[in-house]
Amino acid sequence: MRKPVMAGNWKMYKTAAQTGAAIGALAPLVAGASHVDVVVCAPFVNLPAAVEAARGTNIEIGGQDLFWLKEGAYTGEVSAPMLKAVECRWVIIGHSERRQYFGETDETAAKKTVAALDAGLKPIVCVGERLEQREAGSTDAVLAMQFAGGLAGLTADQFAQVTIAYEPVWAIGTGKTATPEIAAEAHRFLRSQIRGKFGDAAAEACRILYGGSVKPENIQALMAQPELDGALVGGASLDPPSFASIVNF
Ligand code: 13P
Repeated sequence: MRKPVMAGNWKMYKTAAQTGAAIGALAPLVAGASHVDVVVCAPFVNLPAAVEAARGTNIEIGGQDLFWLKEGAYTGEVSAPMLKAVECRWVIIGHSERRQYFGETDETAAKKTVAALDAGLKPIVCVGERLEQREAGSTDAVLAMQFAGGLAGLTADQFAQVTIAYEPVWAIGTGKTATPEIAAEAHRFLRSQIRGKFGDAAAEACRILYGGSVKPENIQALMAQPELDGALVGGASLDPPSFASIVNF
């Protein structure tokens, strides 16, 4: 049985004070949620406040990106050991917004994933097709390429620590959720890619999250699909009662 992960991606929202307050408000609402891993991924400068607020709770904190080298003259960047040092446990890698606005590729995602694993962080590696790719019928080809470029180069031991997030780009922040069936179909395809590269046991064990307009109103139908092992939630995770009702689906 795969333990679901409910991860909030707080993107570029909230100050440090607001982050601490929101996690403080979230904690009692999800304290009984032993059936899932609860994760909040906050902007870099808010991570210490997030970690402090989450201390002693079942909420784990993650970053939203990192740079693949440990240190050096890379103005503006943050490394995996730095995230680890502020007690992050998780990190999002290769989010579609990073790909769209900041030039990320499958190749940079792969390097960042290895850096995260080397530091003992749990990467949530994002894949997903854009609208025109889906409409052109190339969803599977896109996912296969993202898997091959971003994940297939890992060793089996490394891959065992990876969580994948399937986030169809057309569903992010648009209110257009993939139907549970569409999501499950993509998850099944990704699992077949994992099986081909890493074998049956790895495919069965890998947690694949769905992301894209997940809300309290649609989480039950999504999670009714056995292929879905949780969610990566943007907008609906910013409000503690809303995220709590997703966690406690
Ligand atoms: P929304 O839930 O706001 O659509 O964002 C999804 C997402 O990008 C999570 O990483």
